[in-house]
Formats: sequence, structure tokens, C-alpha cells
Amino acid sequence: MIRVGDLYYPDPEFRKRAWVRSERVYKRAEKDPVKFWSSLAEKLLWRKKWHTRFLHRPPYFQWFVGGKINITENALDRQLSRRKNKVAFFWEGEDGERRVYTYYELYREVNRMANALESLGVKKGDVVAIYLPMIPEAVISMLAAARIGAIHTVVFSAFSSKALQIRLQETQARYLITADGYYRRGKVIELKEKADEGVKGTEVEKVIVVERLGREIPWKKGRDLHYGDLVRKESPKHEPVIMDAEDPVFILFTSGSTGKPKGVVHVHGGYTVQAYWTARWIFDLHEDDIFWSTADIGWITGHTYTVYGPLLNGSTFVLYEGALDYPKPDRWAEMIERYGVTTFYTAPTAIRMFEKEGVVPERHDLSSLQILGSVGEPIDERSWKWFYEHVGGKKCPIVDTWWQTETGGILITSLPGVGPFRPTFAGRPFPGVKVAILDDKGRPVKEGEKGHLVILPPFAPGMLRGLWKNHQRYVKTYWSKFPGVYYTSDTALMVDGLIRILGRADDVIKVAGHRLGTGEMEDAINRHPKVSESAVIGVPHEIKGEVPVAFVVLKKGVRKSESLKKEIEERIIKEIGKFARLHGVYFVPDLPKTRSGKIMRRILRKIVAGDKDFGDTSTLANPESIEKIWKVVHG
Ligand code: WT7
Repeated sequence: MIRVGDLYYPDPEFRKRAWVRSERVYKRAEKDPVKFWSSLAEKLLWRKKWHTRFLHRPPYFQWFVGGKINITENALDRQLSRRKNKVAFFWEGEDGERRVYTYYELYREVNRMANALESLGVKKGDVVAIYLPMIPEAVISMLAAARIGAIHTVVFSAFSSKALQIRLQETQARYLITADGYYRRGKVIELKEKADEGVKGTEVEKVIVVERLGREIPWKKGRDLHYGDLVRKESPKHEPVIMDAEDPVFILFTSGSTGKPKGVVHVHGGYTVQAYWTARWIFDLHEDDIFWSTADIGWITGHTYTVYGPLLNGSTFVLYEGALDYPKPDRWAEMIERYGVTTFYTAPTAIRMFEKEGVVPERHDLSSLQILGSVGEPIDERSWKWFYEHVGGKKCPIVDTWWQTETGGILITSLPGVGPFRPTFAGRPFPGVKVAILDDKGRPVKEGEKGHLVILPPFAPGMLRGLWKNHQRYVKTYWSKFPGVYYTSDTALMVDGLIRILGRADDVIKVAGHRLGTGEMEDAINRHPKVSESAVIGVPHEIKGEVPVAFVVLKKGVRKSESLKKEIEERIIKEIGKFARLHGVYFVPDLPKTRSGKIMRRILRKIVAGDKDFGDTSTLANPESIEKIWKVVHG
């Protein structure tokens, strides 16, 4: 029996303010999702209206075909008539430095950068890579690229140079925007050096460098350009380039089951519609709100809800450079108080850290908070309740939002004015979204039973339009398991119409909310000359949710050693980044495999958990491996 927690309904006082307060919207959307999304789309600024609302040519689909739009015209120009001098965002550096941008200031800066990019030769359809920390120039660069019709691809600044290099190669980007460095836990991160490594063997011609720290950095004449010098001489005016609704706005790489990361493509029209409306209704954004999404711009949450969603709504948001618990564990609470944050959107890993570090949020005045949000991994009941009671003061609804890099925006969550909320349940599909939970044969499961979560046509306007130059993988990953529906790779169950996400069915793990492909990590390990093969699995971790551990089979004649272990650990840091650090390396004689040679990671997970109930092992080609691995792990 699954345990279903209590139901929480929105505070009636709060519901007076919520944009959506009744089932009516859900009903209207359900009747005709295409008509529903089109009516929402009409509220945005289009240069030309679409001729076709939704076009389905499996495995591809399009929305608002024939429409002309630019996301930045909606995010910036549209706000100027009423919100010219309203704060767009407050930026805070980890070192305490602060900057404020009004909508007008942001608009002018974006235009300057747009002009600068054009003067370097960037044209519509070109890829501009952004390898920046959480500083204002990151937001400006994204918007500037989108404004001139270039496609931005943001690479998380904690990714290694090797990870950057792969993404630059995959997109053939010729332009890179980076910084001289940034602060993380008080330490200087030498980003420029990492960028220099990363551009080797790529087609990058120009590297624009933001001066964040003002430190001495290596400089390549002719290739490297100072961001400051570049934009200073440019005009603060630049008309948005008018795009087709289906023109790409960005590519964001994410991990899958196999080695290489995949470039998820999002488009100007549909993405704008979904970012605007999901941010508006789910976070109930009103004119006086201060929205803080703690997600880094290197991830999809950073795109849709740290940057685009709030700007499209003319909201004020907070952008923070550093660690939430630095220099003191209550940095996050202090910031909520300082800015009077009304909406706080973060990840379960952060919530568990807040609780563990024993910050008593009550010591801060958090009474400005009205809505709390969670994203990235399933939230456990204890953390949910702690968040609800101690941070939200038992008055804020918690929107547990399920979505993916691929979906572009939130698809499953209860709306704050309608509810209901049940800890550990993401909630209901967003109005206009149809989902199902299927068994292995593609039949809907019964209430309360586990199955595969799929999205049904017409999908959602902000969902991916493909994988960058990889049709095969797009088909295989999302459209092959069940015909005609989008396969999420998540398992889920439904009770009382509310959906609980149970976790990934593939070899993707969530480390502190960050999505990592175990295949990608295995590739990195296997490239070590002394390694024969390896398997990486996620094991439970108190704060991070999951952490990776590796099982490594060495080549014949190679002896295991501490130094070899170090080398393997280093390899992961070098190829992916420190945040993917291994929490254990086991040298084993063999890996459990099926007769077709597939590694059975499920067995490895059981062994690490000390659980001898291995389930069905009849497909195992080498059952004797279990005993041997058990010995290595448990002695
Ligand atoms: C995977 C997508 C979408 C923003 C951040 C992650 C897991 C996401 C939830 C949630 C349980 C969740 C799923 C999903 N996930 N949100 N509220 N409850 N699991 O984006 O890196 O593309 O990862 O994160 O497993 O498939 P992402």
C-alpha cells in the first residue's frame, strides 16, 4: 500500500488573489486544449497571427504555425509602457556586491549587446554559447542573442572544460560569452581558463569576456574581446528581429541514457506562451511580487523561471550568484527577508540542506512569502512539511512542479488557488495538458498503480521541437516506447487525480537536482587506459537525494590501488564537473549482465543497499557475479 498524505487546500484569503480560483479553467481546457492554448497565446504580442494553431506530423508537432514573434519583445519592449522604471531584477553577488536593473535599463543593455553581437557578425540562426555564472550579463546575453534571432546555448558554469567543448562541437558555435571568473563558497573559480581549454578543437572564433572579478587572465589577441569595451560603444537601440513561431530560440543540453548529452531545441512562439502562462498561474505573479527562483541559468529552470517567465510577466526577480548557505547557513533566509521575496522556488536538495543546517527560519522575518515551490526531484514528506511549517509559516501553498528540460515549462502541479496539495504528489496536469500512466504494454494502469508517465497530444506549446541535428535519437528516446505519445522516462502513479512522480526509469540520476547520465560518466571512466568497463549508479544521499558511485572492472593484470581510484575520480571531475563527483569507487571482478550484455544496474543498487531480494535474476548471464560484488561492497 502506498501511503498517501493529508490534503492541503489553499487558504481562502489567498484564493481571493489567485488568478485561477476554480475548476472552470480546467474544464474549458480539457474540452479543447488547442483552442485553450490559442486563447492564451492571443494575450501575447505577435507581429503576425498564426494560420494554424497546432500541426501534428508525428514524431514532430508545431504550434501557432505562421505566427511571427520575438520572445524579447514580449519580455522587454512590452513592459516599457507601464513598467519602464520598475525593477526587473535585483542581483546579488556571493561577496555581497549588489546591482539593480530596471526594465528600461535592462532593455537598453540588451540592445547594446544585441548590437555588439551583430557587429561581430552574429546573424539569425547562428549559435551563441554562454558559459557564465549567475551575473546580470548572463541574462543580458541570453536576451541579446534571442533578440537578433540567434540561438543561445547556455552551458552551466560548473561544467568542466571538456563538457563545454562537447557542447560547442555539437552546435558548431562560433561565439562564446564567458567571464574572467566568479565566486563560489568564497573561492575564485577560474572560468576563463576553463573556457580557453573548452574552445580547443571547436569552431569558436570570438570569445567575449565579462569582467566579473577583474583578475589577471590569459588573453588571446584577436579572438578575445572585453564585454565592457564591446557594449560601451554600442547604441542602446535595437529592434527585435521578427521570428517565425517555430524558429529555435535556444538549445539546452541535457543527459540521457547513452553517452553524449542531447541538445534539446525550443522555439520562440510556443515556449514564450508556456513560460508566460505557467509562471503567471503557478506562481500567481502579480505586480507587487518579488520572485526568487534559485536555479542556475545553466539548467532549464534557470531559463524558464529565473529569467523568461518573470520578465514576460513584468515581474521583479532576484538573481543570486553564489551558494545559498554561504558565508552563513542562513544566507537564503536573509535574502528572502532583504528583498521581501513573495515567491520562493527551489529544489528538495536545498530544502533538506536548510533543515539539516539547523537554521531556524523563524529567526528571520519571512512573512513576505506567499508561495513556495519545489522542482527537480521527488520531495519527501518530511521535507515538504518542514518547508510548509518553518519557511511558509503554514500559510503558503507549496507548488511541487514536475517538468523536464524537454517540456520547456511546468506540466504537472496543482495551482495555488485551486489545489489540492498533498505532500510528495506533484498534483494535477496544468490546464490544457493531457497525461496518462501506462503499463509496459501501453494500457492505462489502475488508480494507485505504478506505470510510465506519458504526455498525450496535443502535448504543450513549449515542449521540445527536436534534438539538435539528431532525428534518430529524438525518435528513439521519446517516441518509440509507446506509439503517438511522448515518453517521459519517469514512472508515476495517480491517486484522487493527483500524480506522484516515483523517479526515472532510465539511467539518468538526479544529484542535488542536477540531471546526470550514468552512461556519460561510464564513458568518461572507460576511457581510462587501465579500465575494462564500468557501471555508475545513483545511491541515496541525505541531502543530495542521490549521489553517483562507480563499479569498475580493471583490465587483466592491472592491480587496484588508491592512486588508480583517485585517477578515476579525477576523470569525472575533468570530463563533467565537480558537482558530479563520485561518492565511491568499487573495483569488482565482473558486472552483472543480461545475456544480451546489458548491465543490470538494478542488482548493483540492491547490493549497495544491502538488500538480498534481487527479484528476477533469470535473465542474468553471470549470477555468480552478485556474490563477488557483495564481498567487495560489504566485505
Ligand atoms: C527530471 C527532469 C524541470 C526542471 C528541473 C529538472 C525529475 C523534475 C520533479 C518533481 C519529481 C521531478 C523527473 C524529470 N523531476 N521535477 N517535481 N517531482 N521529480 O529538469 O534536469 O530535465 O530533469 O527531473 O525525473 O524527468 P531536468
